[in-house]
Amino acid sequence: MPVELAYEELGQGAPWVFLHGFPLTRKLWDGQRALQTEARLILPDLRGHGASPVNGNCTMDAMAEDVLALCDRLGIERFGLAGLSMGGYVALALQERAPGRVAALVLADTQAGADTPEAREAREKLARRLDEEGIDVLLDEFVPKLLSPSGFADEQLLSHVRAMVFSNEADAMAAALRGMAQRRDHTARLGDIACPVLVLVGEQDGLTPPEKARAMVEALPHARLTELPEAGHLSNLEAPDVFNMTLRGFMAEVPTEGALPVSPR
Ligand code: MLT
Repeated sequence: MPVELAYEELGQGAPWVFLHGFPLTRKLWDGQRALQTEARLILPDLRGHGASPVNGNCTMDAMAEDVLALCDRLGIERFGLAGLSMGGYVALALQERAPGRVAALVLADTQAGADTPEAREAREKLARRLDEEGIDVLLDEFVPKLLSPSGFADEQLLSHVRAMVFSNEADAMAAALRGMAQRRDHTARLGDIACPVLVLVGEQDGLTPPEKARAMVEALPHARLTELPEAGHLSNLEAPDVFNMTLRGFMAEVPTEGALPVSPR
């Protein structure tokens, strides 16, 4: 059963849904709020994150169903879909389930492949520590991986990231880790994704490095790549100007007539 997602809605025009990464919230997109002059932005908290509830599992498919249910509730049939990292995993799961509803995709700092057995094991280990020790374990074990060294040294940026992490519950984060560990490999079907795709990646992204982004672009029939200099995994936070400029250009080029109808509010 889908859960009712907490979300924020800004602007008017063609609908674009933005999916945040782990272990964050919709506040990841604070720097992208400026894009509301271009489009109608829908910013949900994925299940178990921020103000959205969790019910049992946190698989990418369950999260995708929640997002589809939210779009149904808002009367949005077809939309642009942007996901960063785990948000990208959810975006791919949603596009697989409902390809006709996705007019364009933005995949930022993410990957199409599934976890290796070692990565699954590491997630399970971290999930157990979350169960036992609480949310604090993410501060040492995960947050440093999200930012480049200069991003990590930026106190304002770091405290924004920490605040998002602390607004989440340990058990829900453990469930999300287990959900990511179960995700499918989308590599073999990338060639079937017919919509335009923009792939973005921070040059210093150590979690989903530029090689993964380049491999996706090669396999996707209608994709382009932008690498963001000096940015880490959370490239939209570390390089908001280039990120937004690239996104703006893509949003303007994507055929909106018919493909992205302005939906009633
Ligand atoms: C994320 O940023 O959403 C996660 O780092 C993704 C992952 O751990 O694979």
